[in-house]
Amino acid sequence: MTKVRIGVVGVGHLGKEHARILSQMEGVDLVGVADPSRGQAEAVALRCNTLAFGNHKDLIGKVDAAVVAAPTILHHEVATELLKGGVSLLVEKPLAKDLDQCRELNQLALDRNLLLQVGHIERFNPAYEELVKTGLSPRYIVCKRTSSFPGRSLDVGVVLDLMIHDLDLVLDLLKDTPTRVEAFGAAIMGGFEDMAQVRIHFARGAIVDLMASRVHPDPCRSMDIWGPEGYAGVDFAKRTLKLWQQGTIFRQGFEANKLDGPAMGQFRAELFTRHLENQIITCEPCDQLTRELEDFRDGLMGKKTVRVTGEHGVRAVELASLILKSIDQHPWTATPFGPSGPRDLPTSKGQLFATTQKEAAA
Ligand SMILES: NC(=O)c1ccc[n+]([C@@H]2O[C@H](COP(=O)([O-])OP(=O)(O)OC[C@H]3O[C@@H](n4cnc5c(N)ncnc54)[C@H](O)[C@@H]3O)[C@@H](O)[C@H]2O)c1
Repeated sequence: MTKVRIGVVGVGHLGKEHARILSQMEGVDLVGVADPSRGQAEAVALRCNTLAFGNHKDLIGKVDAAVVAAPTILHHEVATELLKGGVSLLVEKPLAKDLDQCRELNQLALDRNLLLQVGHIERFNPAYEELVKTGLSPRYIVCKRTSSFPGRSLDVGVVLDLMIHDLDLVLDLLKDTPTRVEAFGAAIMGGFEDMAQVRIHFARGAIVDLMASRVHPDPCRSMDIWGPEGYAGVDFAKRTLKLWQQGTIFRQGFEANKLDGPAMGQFRAELFTRHLENQIITCEPCDQLTRELEDFRDGLMGKKTVRVTGEHGVRAVELASLILKSIDQHPWTATPFGPSGPRDLPTSKGQLFATTQKEAAA
């Protein structure tokens, strides 16, 4: 079998994992890794038994495809040069930092008949795959994604860094157009928004609430979905899917207010054991990054269409742009010239309690 020749561009926190997996993957020849941090490129190349390059352009002509895992603000520049050099790409999420850049990249790939995949890795989470299989038709979705401060990806805010995962999933589930977005966010570490709270209305009536924070003591990645068939709860970290549905009694024109005292007592006692049925699906542990890269390899070999295309990457950033616009415009004091946006919060009136830091006593 002919192997696909792949390079990895940007071998920091995530790129080094791409390189490690590709170096061991059947059907792949990891030609090299490129990173302007020469020491990092050489260390990863040594571990992966491949070549180190200081510039992504050095890969052009040597590879069929590349993974771009450089900082988000560089995706457009790096990906443009590689696509123009005839290299198919898996670009880490988000596809690029703004909508114009995303559209340009997608068009460039289409014009040159090159594969463009985007690294929305939660699509390969087995709990999400189980959810899709249920056929639940979502009417209301609540997404929560929190992490402790990563100290990375500070070239963008939490919407493009974390919430983008959920935006892609919601668009995949609903296959519908957003009609209204209400959002606010706050910058805690300076720079961009570190937390965001969002409500999106969709054309066919579904409503989605999303919350993301990257300065949070309790990491969480969850999605709750309600539809006419029942409720589903996905825990992306534990890879579990909880399902609840109404039992037979509800399908027979049941009305709780018609029950007399003893019947109501019995009904309440049996509600969660009999009348509301539930199931928990615990998925086998698997490596999502490997599955995403296998999808990329198979797409390059022409075996299948990749799950997350450039078009999906564009749509996720399109929705993120509407959210960021709403966050920027949020007036904290409902006055036209008052504080607005993620950085310009109302002036603090003091502290909640006496500081516990040692310097305060000094
Ligand atoms: N899919 C996911 O769940 C997920 C998780 C983490 C990060 N990411 C994405 O991956 C990308 C990288 O994130 P990270 O956390 O690995 O960042 P990182 O800072 O750890 O690594 C980035 C690497 O890119 C290198 N670099 C800088 N300029 C470059 C250039 N011009 N060409 C090539 N390499 C360059 C840096 O030297 C560094 O080694 C970001 O877009 C981020 O959003 C995705």
